[in-house]
Amino acid sequence: MSITYGPLTKADAVRCAELESLLFPGDDPWPERAFHAELAGGHTHYVAARADGTVVGYAGIAQLGRTPPYEYEIHTIGVDPEYQGRGIGRRMLEQLLEVADDGVIFLEVRTDNEPAIALYESVGFVRVGLRKRYYRVSGADAYTMRRDPPSVAKREAP
Ligand SMILES: CC(C)(COP(=O)(O)OP(=O)(O)OC[C@H]1O[C@@H](n2cnc3c(N)ncnc32)[C@H](O)[C@@H]1OP(=O)(O)O)[C@@H](O)C(=O)NCCC(=O)NCCS
Repeated sequence: MSITYGPLTKADAVRCAELESLLFPGDDPWPERAFHAELAGGHTHYVAARADGTVVGYAGIAQLGRTPPYEYEIHTIGVDPEYQGRGIGRRMLEQLLEVADDGVIFLEVRTDNEPAIALYESVGFVRVGLRKRYYRVSGADAYTMRRDPPSVAKREAP
């Protein structure tokens, strides 16, 4: 099955909300209107992975600040459980990193989400903070993770 990658559109909001309920059942899954708001934002970049036209993955990042140097925040990433473990999450994350390569990127992730933490660490994110009871519904804790732009990371390397 070949997977194609491209922009996420408003027409995908229903499917994304469906995937959110599957992926984040106890953690306030985003409803359709949250995706509409994100896509209307103008400061966000969202990508989709599709199998036979059906969205099987989505990921988005926001640019923070009005003038450079910008910071960025990864808002969400998810892959249909039936399609996980095939490189789709990594491919979408790399696409987000490309648009944010000039700035520091932040994200929050549940402290028990080992697959996501492993993925983030593999592309240069490091844990910089712990937010207790960050997730309102489940009460789960989150790590804040940060990734410096590659040029800074290289300059500071010993
Ligand atoms: C996190 C998520 C997006 C990864 O997507 P994916 O398509 O399954 O991931 P990939 O196949 O691209 O794997 C990328 C890396 O993730 C890590 N990973 C993926 N599944 C893993 C697992 N079961 N255990 C440990 N690490 C895992 C590995 O580092 C992997 O790299 P490798 O294949 O080189 O070892 C997916 O698991 C998901 O949708 N999870 C539920 C939603 C979620 O938690 N989103 C993140 C919120 S912060």
